[in-house]
Amino acid sequence: MADNKFPPGPRSAFGAFFSFHRDALNFLSRLTRKYGDIVHLKTGSRHDYLIAHPDYVKAVLLADESEMRRSIHRAVRRLFGKGLLASQEQLHVSQRRLILPIFQKQRIANYAAMITDRISRATCQWRDGQVIDIAEEMTSLSLAVIVKILFGVDIEEGAQSLRQDLGAVVARTEWRNLFRTKKEFQAARGRLDAFLHRMIQEHRSKQVDQPDLLSALLQANDSQGSSQGDEQIRDEAVTLLAAGHETIATSMAWTWYLLSRNPDVERRMHQELDTVLGGNTPTAEDLPRLTYTAMVISESMRLYPPVWSMTRRPINDFPLGDYTIPAESYIHISPYVLHRDPRYFAEPERFDPMRWTLEEYAKRPKFCYFPFGAGSRKCVGDNLALMEGMLILVMLAQRWTVRLVSTEPWIPQPLITLRPKGNTSMKLDRRLPAETGQPSGRERITV
Ligand code: HEM
Repeated sequence: MADNKFPPGPRSAFGAFFSFHRDALNFLSRLTRKYGDIVHLKTGSRHDYLIAHPDYVKAVLLADESEMRRSIHRAVRRLFGKGLLASQEQLHVSQRRLILPIFQKQRIANYAAMITDRISRATCQWRDGQVIDIAEEMTSLSLAVIVKILFGVDIEEGAQSLRQDLGAVVARTEWRNLFRTKKEFQAARGRLDAFLHRMIQEHRSKQVDQPDLLSALLQANDSQGSSQGDEQIRDEAVTLLAAGHETIATSMAWTWYLLSRNPDVERRMHQELDTVLGGNTPTAEDLPRLTYTAMVISESMRLYPPVWSMTRRPINDFPLGDYTIPAESYIHISPYVLHRDPRYFAEPERFDPMRWTLEEYAKRPKFCYFPFGAGSRKCVGDNLALMEGMLILVMLAQRWTVRLVSTEPWIPQPLITLRPKGNTSMKLDRRLPAETGQPSGRERITV
């Protein structure tokens, strides 16, 4: 039965604060190893909990929205307004109902050709032996893809400035930048809003008639008789723009890093790509046959989940295990910590895609792995992210072996996403796929 005693945890809130800001990921892992599956920390009247058991993760993430809120920093709310990521309660429920169908798997499959086209164009300048900054390249590529899918436009010329403006406004939501970049933030925010409003106006005045997400959002809006103003649409659009590219870029950068450090895995993946696709541009229908490649992505997101932490606040006292979590406490859940728990993943530091065979997957509790979250706030873009990640990985790995130029390990930085820090330069070696493919009428990759 739940009672009111507090779970164990560090005594010094001051020490914990510094340890967290010095090295959050290791600090959180150490806390759970030392104190167990529910850790408690009190600072003044504020209670923080870190939970690290799949049953507790399930209870918190699947709690009803009337019981549990996502905790959202003021700076995040300022940027995303009433968009899906930041809205709460009834507004969130109704917006989610409107937006979720747009992201259904079958509808998302229609974007595959748009994505492969963007990938070809973004990488057609790549040359054999060239050294690129893979983290940068993946960010530009995933931004170009989301802009195309969201607004139906190519951002060749404006890419750099849009990227900088978006980077500046998102950086402002990180605590370490809150006091530093106000002027730059305001200018960037102005330009970004002007771009978003231009897109909305062009779509509304039917100058654009394409199967993009913004058109789908406006249509869903009209068909439900809801007359949302431009501000609400802007908030949803900026949310999808920001949430829909940095996460994918992060996950792709880590995947190239892991493949370069694990040539056996890479070889096996190349074999699968050559056998299944034979050099053809992948389509959405091809993806289910690329099982090993999908397992590579799952394993990469286990070790480096792009969203490394989620926070919830119970509206009322919330029973959890043997404890009662007081209303308004902060409950932290870290996929990074759970995904590396040796109780569920033997030798957790080892990169091993074979953990994701159906048999292995079935042996583990469901909530020890949740890169897209779960419940009423689960990522709406999960199908898109998985398809896009696969298409990027497949198309590039068909043509290139991507090699680290430095042996120094990358360090995961727990910012909004788990960006890699270190020398992210990688060298491109052209690989000609083995001639195993059956000749087909389908387009071949033009790089
Ligand atoms: C590898 C890529 C991605 C990962 C790992 C990821 C992860 C996540 C996670 C963990 C959450 C839930 C956070 C929480 O529970 O507090 C989330 C929410 C969200 N994601 Fe993603 N995401 C990815 C890609 C995308 C894409 C491509 C889009 C859209 C284009 C997107 C849009 C959203 C939105 C709108 C939410 C808020 C949902 C809500 O609160 O109702 N994400 N994402």
